[in-house]
Amino acid sequence: MVEHGTFTGNRDTDYPMAVRQAALLWEADLPLGSNLANISALLAQCLPRTNWVGFYLWDEGRRQLLLGPFQGLPACTRIGFGAGVCGTAVKERRTQRVADVHLFPGHIACDSASESEIVVPIIRQGVVLGVLDVDSPEKSRFDETDQRFLEETAAALVALWPA
Ligand code: SME
Repeated sequence: MVEHGTFTGNRDTDYPMAVRQAALLWEADLPLGSNLANISALLAQCLPRTNWVGFYLWDEGRRQLLLGPFQGLPACTRIGFGAGVCGTAVKERRTQRVADVHLFPGHIACDSASESEIVVPIIRQGVVLGVLDVDSPEKSRFDETDQRFLEETAAALVALWPA
């Protein structure tokens, strides 16, 4: 069993440790959902002042993001291409860091407590696999350091993600 739950609140050490632990937690013979469930739990432990941490997975047939493993309140199950913060991250193929969700046109409110949000697309060789979505009840919760951490995490997951 991988050691976990040892985050201290110091991002300089917690974030690199979380990226390492994500790779250690991953069990290549398990279904994607099992691994992403553990990664969402790991990230929720690592990211203070957040109320939703999880994944939406791209369904090419439906041209929608579908709800994946997460920590937080029940959430909307389908998000269209270009819709909300998540669908915009897919459409623009880049991270959306939103200081105030109420000012983001088309923001989809799943938890009314959410005030700020960051969505990182998970892309392998030009193909969108899904997004990593984190919400906070605080405005402007996420800065460049958080973005870099979540983008590094997404890159680590791309390397582990089944073909
Ligand atoms: N706020 C997101 C929807 C997902 S929830 O935050 C969990 C959006 O606008 O795409």
